[in-house]
Amino acid sequence: MEMFEQLRSSEQQLKSLLRGLPVPQVAVVLGSGLSAVAEAVDTQRVVPYADIEGFPTSTAPGHKGRFVFGTLAGVPLVVMQGRVHFYEGYAMSEVVLPHRLLARLGVQTFVLTNACGGIRSDMRPGDMVVLRDHLSSFVPSPLRGPNIEALGPRFPDMTEVYDAKLRAQLHVVAGRVGIALSEGVYLQVAGPAFETPAEIAAYRTLGADMTGMSTAVEAQALRHMGARVIGISCVTNLAAGMSGEPLSSEEVDEMGREFEPKLVALLSEALPVWTA
Ligand code: HPA
Repeated sequence: MEMFEQLRSSEQQLKSLLRGLPVPQVAVVLGSGLSAVAEAVDTQRVVPYADIEGFPTSTAPGHKGRFVFGTLAGVPLVVMQGRVHFYEGYAMSEVVLPHRLLARLGVQTFVLTNACGGIRSDMRPGDMVVLRDHLSSFVPSPLRGPNIEALGPRFPDMTEVYDAKLRAQLHVVAGRVGIALSEGVYLQVAGPAFETPAEIAAYRTLGADMTGMSTAVEAQALRHMGARVIGISCVTNLAAGMSGEPLSSEEVDEMGREFEPKLVALLSEALPVWTA
């Protein structure tokens, strides 16, 4: 099915599944190992991606594949419990379909979370980092192909992908709850192989502070539509070649789970401020 047709058909289906529910103000996309954050939501409705015809469903470990609608700290939100990745074989336009769908529904603010490898020398597993900017040049653009004018312009500006006001507010609430937060530049790789040490050395010279397989293209598609975006990276491991240890997805998921209480605490404080 053509992209925009698929989007409109998904939109009709989701709208009918949600009948009566207010449009959430915020969407939170959960990264690897972070899926239990959805358990903190006062849940009103759960929609598995598989219930929407033609929708991409996740094959990645630690990714459930459903929308959880409800409230957190009194703020109406939708959590994407699981996302699909380019390395699973999907086109980038399929990878960003759920995000576009939520933006079409009227969700205005998106919180993109991810597990990442830390490249900057001061980063340690367990650190949380707010995305200041990203490098998406190593993966195809989700905007490739005929532009869907109804979504946004052919050549969208990407000067400030990650909203400066949302970031400033997040730093204030992080200080209040005692969570250390730095900022960094996220570089997206295609995966599924982890990087080589030579690649990490190269990415460092390019200005990357962390690397992962998801967030930059999602942010790009959302900015194309004019949505507000903030990105939060959870450093689950030092990037390849930095620790002397091999990398594994088990380590990423295990470490990811340690972020869950911190992420819930941070979001519970931030959501009312972001939406005030
Ligand atoms: N590289 C790429 N993606 C990742 C990593 C990494 O080191 N850790 C978690 N996701």
